[in-house]
Amino acid sequence: MANEEENTPRSGVENIPRTIWWGVDEASGNPAVYLIDQTRLPLQGDVLMCSVAEGVCTAIRSLAVRGAPALGVAAALALALWTENEAGEIDNNEDYVASLAGVAQAVIETRPTAVNLQWGAERIVRIATDNIDLDLNDLKDLVVQEALNMQAEDERRNRQMGEHGAALLPDEARILTHCNAGSLATAYFGTALGVVFTAHEQGKIAHVWVDETRPVNQGGRLTTWELRMAGIPSALIADSMAGFVMSKGWVDAVIVGADRIAANGDTANKIGTYALAVLAKHHGIPFYVVAPTSTVDLTINSGEEIVIEERDPREMMGFTVSGAFEPDSADANRAFDLLTKDGAYDMKLTKGHQMVIDRKGGGYAFDAWFRITPPDVQVFNPAFDVTPGELITAIITERGVIEPDPDYESILALMMMRTGGLHELRMEGLDFTSADIRRESDIPVSEKPAEGPSEN
Ligand code: MRU
Repeated sequence: MANEEENTPRSGVENIPRTIWWGVDEASGNPAVYLIDQTRLPLQGDVLMCSVAEGVCTAIRSLAVRGAPALGVAAALALALWTENEAGEIDNNEDYVASLAGVAQAVIETRPTAVNLQWGAERIVRIATDNIDLDLNDLKDLVVQEALNMQAEDERRNRQMGEHGAALLPDEARILTHCNAGSLATAYFGTALGVVFTAHEQGKIAHVWVDETRPVNQGGRLTTWELRMAGIPSALIADSMAGFVMSKGWVDAVIVGADRIAANGDTANKIGTYALAVLAKHHGIPFYVVAPTSTVDLTINSGEEIVIEERDPREMMGFTVSGAFEPDSADANRAFDLLTKDGAYDMKLTKGHQMVIDRKGGGYAFDAWFRITPPDVQVFNPAFDVTPGELITAIITERGVIEPDPDYESILALMMMRTGGLHELRMEGLDFTSADIRRESDIPVSEKPAEGPSEN
């Protein structure tokens, strides 16, 4: 008789590795932060080990770790790492908290658009400030524990959003998604893709269209990889093909993540999201944003105030390709051994192409950049754009589905009114239910948010 386990359909998401985790550096015995190097996925599954906070900052800048919720967790773990490995000389609480705030500011400045980075760093500084009277070692332990709590919370929130979002989808749903808002963009499970994984587990997903997401190809490299690992049917399209598949009636819903949501619902997400929202509106297709409340920034009134990161023009001017190889002859092996005896060998190729070869395990790895444009082309490379709230059908949060009824400003303002604060951190104990809100403001709200104790 097949047991329960065998009969339960497996979403397959468990095949996806964790994005970032707290561990120990075997060599030193000191704590370390480990993360999957997403710049080399899906061809290379390299794990980076960071033993100082600056290591995590470098990983954030280079997109080795990316995606708003993952950045929030990375910020917290970077401060925990600094606390454990770099704050040993500090012998009093005031200096410890002041220095922690300084490191937090450095972490926040690694990338400007995703508010989760600021949220994660500020939450750690806040808990240290609120408990400054503790014994210094207890205070440091509290900071490390808070970072680990935030990692666990992130996964729980993603699964809650998965449930709320899946409930909105029809059977045999055909989804279109942009960038990677999957498990790799969070501590685990994913936001927009978390909805797809949950709906797949419920047997509701027929197909997923994946926007390539130029220029860094988070869709083409990471989302296709996650969907494949989870056993979900999907097809890759160039960003410019989204309108075509919508016009054919092959899309039932567009589901994306978010990097910052303003008080009026205007939402920043990967460049190209705005165009998708306009297309979805034109074709009458629901456009869902899936994001934890930590991505809601009530300190800004509209998308106009969102700082849009501009990235290295080389992302547009060429392709980065990474790989590993084992020389197929002793001579070749000797040659590469010679080339890399003093470290990575930077091979200057013609036409501005570049290749760096280094030793890796028993073989070699290469990172190459191949130019496709004329050398002096002018490039504009904004990494995000803003979708006006009025183009968003609903915002799916861990606390429930928020619909612009009558508009996001009112609903999000309600949050503000109830919290008395302007940022998610001040939502302790908030568990807004439609009944409460009706009572508060007589504004009808469509969906009953998550029950049970608030996460914060
Ligand atoms: O530049 P990236 O890869 O960090 O951009 C990521 C996105 O835009 C995601 O859609 C967003 O952060 C949500 S991740 C759950």
